[in-house]
Amino acid sequence: IGHIEDVQELCKSRPLAVPERYVREPDERPSTETAAPTATQEVPVIDMGKLMCGTRPCQAREEMRKFTAACRDWGFFQLVNHGIENSLLERMQEVAMDFFKLPLEEKERYPMAPGTLQGYGHAFVFSEDQKLDWCNMLALGVEPSFIRKPHLWPTNPSNFSETMEVYSANIRELCKRLLILTARSLGLRHDAFGDMFGEAVQAARMNYYPPCSRPDLVLGLSPHSDGSALTVLQQDTESVGLQILKDGTWVSVQPIPNALVINIGDTLEVLTNGRYKSVEHRVVTNRDRSRLSVVTFYAPSYEVELGPMPELVSKHEPPVYKKYTHGEYNRHYITNKLQGKKTLEFAK
Ligand code: SIN
Ligand code: FE2
Repeated sequence: IGHIEDVQELCKSRPLAVPERYVREPDERPSTETAAPTATQEVPVIDMGKLMCGTRPCQAREEMRKFTAACRDWGFFQLVNHGIENSLLERMQEVAMDFFKLPLEEKERYPMAPGTLQGYGHAFVFSEDQKLDWCNMLALGVEPSFIRKPHLWPTNPSNFSETMEVYSANIRELCKRLLILTARSLGLRHDAFGDMFGEAVQAARMNYYPPCSRPDLVLGLSPHSDGSALTVLQQDTESVGLQILKDGTWVSVQPIPNALVINIGDTLEVLTNGRYKSVEHRVVTNRDRSRLSVVTFYAPSYEVELGPMPELVSKHEPPVYKKYTHGEYNRHYITNKLQGKKTLEFAK
């Protein structure tokens, strides 16, 4: 594929321009009615403090019911009282923003190679006629350390790497706790996922969505489900943009200060034999506001064999997905464009 213009630069030089390659087909355009959530459609909010509280077991049980329902019926929830310090979340947001504000030449010192998902650039673009997302992206492999490409970790801003390191370690612990809760919610041993994941793969992605003069025509990020087991997303509280497909309607995830948005990825859908499902989501842009998100993907080690867990398969619930390794799925995922839940067809 040929040269792709940097969206942020496009916005600076021609603020009103929306080149053809960004204009979505009519059926993909965000309509303004669907951008606002209706009162009955709000992504559930889970209080981790209540879930983990040993001294108030009734409250913990009640919150566990909410957690289970959120995983089953939504595949998405907002987590409050997650135990990660707000100041760390703010610092992460700041260094990511400082990076995106750098001049293009500086950001291009960390180029994403085609067909990979690390560095600054355009992921998931494979043809000239494919529509482009109104977004800039910096993607980094974090754990295990052999997946890291240290030359793609920005040295500017100077505190980027150190902040990313501390942030990622905190998110990793949170993911482990969430997987224990997920296992419990399914009636599995509490370390069922922890044991099978091995040295879990963790990747970070930062998305910067510049304002767009025609938010009705473009998408910040194409509809997709995540390939991960779990995704932890920190979103800007200044602007709304993330939407999830719930019962055929796009529902906005309204930012809650200091909350983290958690969602189920394809890998957990396969492991749970479809009891919990990955959910299609997309990002819409705003006319006069930019938006920033910091996303962490958490998944099993690449050599782990995926497929429905034996405990969740029975005569009445035969396996819906085949067996394959996480490495195979990852390759498949990053070499295809984002297209709803299509990537998961691989597992059928
Ligand atoms: C993503 O789905 O990877 C990012 C969504 C967002 O920016 O909120
Ligand atoms: Fe996503």
